[in-house]
Amino acid sequence: MTYGFIGTGSMGRTLIEALIRSGKVKPSEMIVTNRTKAKAQQLADRYPGLRVAADNRQAIHESSVFFLCIKPGEFRTVLDEICDVVREDQIAVSITSPVMIADLEKWLRARAAKIIPSIANSVCDGNSLFVPGPRLTEEDRKQLWDLFSAISQPITIAESDTRVASDLASVSPAFIAFLMEKLADAAAEETNLPRETALALVTRMAHGLGRLLTDGGFTLESLQERVAVPGGITREGLNLLQEDIGPVFNKLIRLTHAKYEDDIEKVQQSLRAKIEK
Ligand SMILES: NC(=O)c1ccc[n+]([C@@H]2O[C@H](COP(=O)([O-])OP(=O)(O)OC[C@H]3O[C@@H](n4cnc5c(N)ncnc54)[C@H](OP(=O)(O)O)[C@@H]3O)[C@@H](O)[C@H]2O)c1
Repeated sequence: MTYGFIGTGSMGRTLIEALIRSGKVKPSEMIVTNRTKAKAQQLADRYPGLRVAADNRQAIHESSVFFLCIKPGEFRTVLDEICDVVREDQIAVSITSPVMIADLEKWLRARAAKIIPSIANSVCDGNSLFVPGPRLTEEDRKQLWDLFSAISQPITIAESDTRVASDLASVSPAFIAFLMEKLADAAAEETNLPRETALALVTRMAHGLGRLLTDGGFTLESLQERVAVPGGITREGLNLLQEDIGPVFNKLIRLTHAKYEDDIEKVQQSLRAKIEK
């Protein structure tokens, strides 16, 4: 089995390294390309056996399953380049949410899926969002599920839920890190606690919080109940948060969705010429 990767930027590299580290895929089973060749070459230097293809067409030609780890605006160029070498016996996986599976299938003869990873997959944790395309066979689904189970907890979602599920699974690590940083900053600003100590405390707290939610038998709700003892300050703090930041999250979801609609429209426009042929 050979896995092809078009694009070894932030997410392409994360996927490649996680799959190698998990032991699920050997470097010798990977062929990669990147617009800036040096980035792909760095991976080949680091993981002996991993091959850098001469171009995207060669990477596709040699793979059974290939991953399109490029940004939405880069799809047209890549699809133009590879469409006539893609075969029916291949599986094409896009890791980008605004590119619709139906559009991919109009461009490529392969069986297509969308799988949205998360930065947490780099430590073999977090979810990956699995959107199977209609051409996938039961065996294809099992194969992809098994592959992503090595680095994440895959979850099947409807394509129409991709944005909101990505917000929660893939984008939230940045949002939550931001909130934690703000909490530490406020502590350092309002008291004499050094900022580094504040940051170290919230970071370790997050580690423990994760374990409480996964291994400790807590839900988000029961955890709040447990810490907010009657008459204590936690309840007051939770009430303040509810009042002040609760509505921000509704705005946040509306904001990501507005941008998503915009991205879908742009991608569809860029892919239309071929689709209308
Ligand atoms: N970052 C995340 O946490 C995350 C999570 C889930 C999904 N995603 C999705 O993953 C996609 C990629 O994101 P990213 O953060 O990895 O972006 P990125 O770091 O910019 O990586 C994209 C890579 O694609 C390469 N590329 C562009 N055009 C190419 C072409 N014609 N042929 C070959 N390679 C080409 C770029 O090469 P150069 O080196 O020349 O720029 C770059 O290395 C995005 O759509 C994003 O939404 C990201």
